[in-house]
Amino acid sequence: MINDIDQVIKKRRSVFPAMYSGQRIDDSVINEILENANWAPNHRKTEPWRFKVFADEGLLRLGEFLAEKYKETTPPEKFKEMKYKKTRKKLVNSSHVIALCIQKDPSGLVPEWEELAALSCAVQNMYLSCTARGLGCYWSSPKTMIGKPTILDLPEGQQCYGLMYIGIPIEGLELKAERGDILAKTKWFYK
Ligand SMILES: Cc1cc2nc3c(=O)[nH]c(=O)nc-3n(C[C@H](O)[C@H](O)[C@H](O)COP(=O)(O)O)c2cc1C
Repeated sequence: MINDIDQVIKKRRSVFPAMYSGQRIDDSVINEILENANWAPNHRKTEPWRFKVFADEGLLRLGEFLAEKYKETTPPEKFKEMKYKKTRKKLVNSSHVIALCIQKDPSGLVPEWEELAALSCAVQNMYLSCTARGLGCYWSSPKTMIGKPTILDLPEGQQCYGLMYIGIPIEGLELKAERGDILAKTKWFYK
């Protein structure tokens, strides 16, 4: 078991929509991934993560929203037609896209950073669950989706922190990654 978890953690990569085959994943698999997200640690048992799942025509609607927001917020001299089209295509290639949100603690006892940290733990569970199932995913944080994007129609106290794209990777995909030495990022106190 230790070996398995070590392998999944290190094998996990961000897999971007251009690397997805465009095939659809069964909703039941997405529910398994969300179920694992739900087991993340969280302070005061607030379970602050909230997920908004886009699939099928929902993906097209989200693609339109992101592309139009890009157009709206980009000065004409900086606007790139290619990026506009690419934004829509990212969604078409994906199987599901999940908006990653939190519900702020109504009692105010848990600070927002802790709710966001708990969401991040939930997202890592999703990443690892995708890896273990041979699925690709990545956390995308476009400015247009941070806060309260109108497409989500979020209730009071909810806030969005980006999108998780999920898709079936094209065959033979090999993604390399590197990390600096953990010893350089760690300090031990024996006394
Ligand atoms: C909070 C967060 C936000 C991210 N936002 C983006 C993003 O907007 N665009 C992007 O290309 N990657 C984004 N990523 C993914 C990183 O690019 C990716 O994790 C990094 O390159 C390391 O690669 P790995 O995930 O394969 O280890 C984000 C990751 C995190 C944790």
